[in-house]
Formats: sequence, C-alpha cells, structure tokens
Amino acid sequence: MGRAIAASIEQQADLDIAGIWSRDGNLDEIVALADVVIDFSLPEGTEQVLDAVVSYNKPLVCGVSGLTDAQMTTLENAARVVPVLYDRNMSLGVAVLERVLREAVVALGPGFDVEISETHHVHKKDAPSGTALKLGEAVAEARGDSDTSAIRYEVERRGEVPGDHEITLRSPAEVLRLAHSVTTRQVFADGALRAARWLVNREAGLYSMADVLFD
Ligand SMILES: NC(=O)c1ccc[n+]([C@@H]2O[C@H](COP(=O)([O-])OP(=O)(O)OC[C@H]3O[C@@H](n4cnc5c(N)ncnc54)[C@H](OP(=O)(O)O)[C@@H]3O)[C@@H](O)[C@H]2O)c1
Repeated sequence: MGRAIAASIEQQADLDIAGIWSRDGNLDEIVALADVVIDFSLPEGTEQVLDAVVSYNKPLVCGVSGLTDAQMTTLENAARVVPVLYDRNMSLGVAVLERVLREAVVALGPGFDVEISETHHVHKKDAPSGTALKLGEAVAEARGDSDTSAIRYEVERRGEVPGDHEITLRSPAEVLRLAHSVTTRQVFADGALRAARWLVNREAGLYSMADVLFD
C-alpha cells in the first residue's frame, strides 16, 4: 500500500511526499514536515503514528485494519485533539455499499440471516478482513443492536486477489446479494488521497470515507 500511495502522489502535481517512514526512519522528522499523515502500516506502527500526530498536531488518514480495542481507544483519543479519518476500506464502492446495506437491512426488517464472505490475497494478515467486520458492524447498527454474533463470516485466502466482499441476506423465501470487487489496490491509495485532501483543514474529530462521500 505504501508503494501504491507513493505512485498516486507522484501523479498529482499539487501533492508532494514529505517523507516515507520505514522501521529505522525518523517518524517525528517526517510528521513535523507533513501537512497530512497517511498511515497504512500495521497496528504496532499505528500506535507510534498516533503519538506523533498528536505531538505535532497533524491530521491523520489511517487505513490500518486489525486494531485492538485498546488501539481503537487510543485512536479515538487522538481524534479529540487532531482530525483523524479512519476507514478499514478507502474505496468509494465500499462506502456506497455500506450505505446501501444499512438501508437494505432496515427495509427488510427481521427474519433475514446475514452472511459476509470475503476473499483476499494470501499475504493478508488479519481475518476476517477489516472491511468484512466493518460491514458486519453496519448490519448490527442498522438493526439497532451492537451484537454481531448472529452474522456468519466466510474467509478465503487465494493468490493475489486485492479484495472481494459479498453480503447475502437470506430469508426462507428470498435471497439478496450485495457485492464489491476491487481490481487493483490502487483504488485504496486513490481513496486515501481523496480523504487526505478532504481532511487537511477539518476540525479535530473522527471521520470515515462516508463523511468524504456523503457530507
Ligand atoms: N483501508 C484500506 O482501504 C486498506 C486497503 C488495503 C490494506 N489496508 C491495510 O493497510 C495496512 C498495510 O497493508 P499492506 O498490504 O501494505 O501490508 P504490508 O505489505 O505488510 O505493509 C505494511 C508496511 O508497514 C510497515 N510496518 C509494519 N509495522 C511497522 C512498525 N511497527 N513500524 C514501522 N513500520 C511498520 C511494514 O514494514 P516492514 O516491511 O519493515 O515490515 C510495511 O512496510 C494493513 O493494515 C492492511 O490491513 C487497508
């Protein structure tokens, strides 16, 4: 993802890379220089990034999935101080899918079982994907309940698949399927840059791609 984001920035004349952080790099130096910070590392890296954006008062776009509850609390606390856009899927399609899904769940009412299946490349570390969990949480919220235990998740790891998600809403009488496929991971990078542009002059707060698209 780091390479995809760098490639996207290079194609946009008004954006420059202030710096790229790697394990042995100086995160503080880069964050101090940046107008906006984009984090696509892993949860441990995100902990350091959150400290740095708070110290230097910089907006953060974070796409890291698999954060623990404690790490999510740290992120929420950071969002009280600086603008933070957190989304486990930066594609435009999944933001739209989530909205349609919420409407479908409300309109269909009870009596529909929900199954969320996802397929990703074999290198992916977390399972189910952050996107699948986010869609499951959206279903539960739309039902007015935070309990996601009734939702069934199916996970497949295959080849270099960038990300497929399908939600099946099933009653004894009918089946509704909503699906999203990514053909290139570049879509997440482009979404992250769109999010960065949108976030850069916002007030402190916790935002998502839905805010970028629908506000
Ligand atoms: N929101 C979205 O739309 C979206 C889309 C795709 C992926 N993601 C998420 O984005 C993240 C990155 O995905 P990826 O496929 O690019 O993973 P990846 O290939 O494993 O890349 C992770 C990068 O973060 C670095 N890193 C990890 N832990 C670090 C730490 N403690 N300190 C400093 N650097 C650290 C790694 O460095 P090393 O090479 O040295 O290990 C690597 O460069 C994952 O959390 C993934 O779930 C989000």
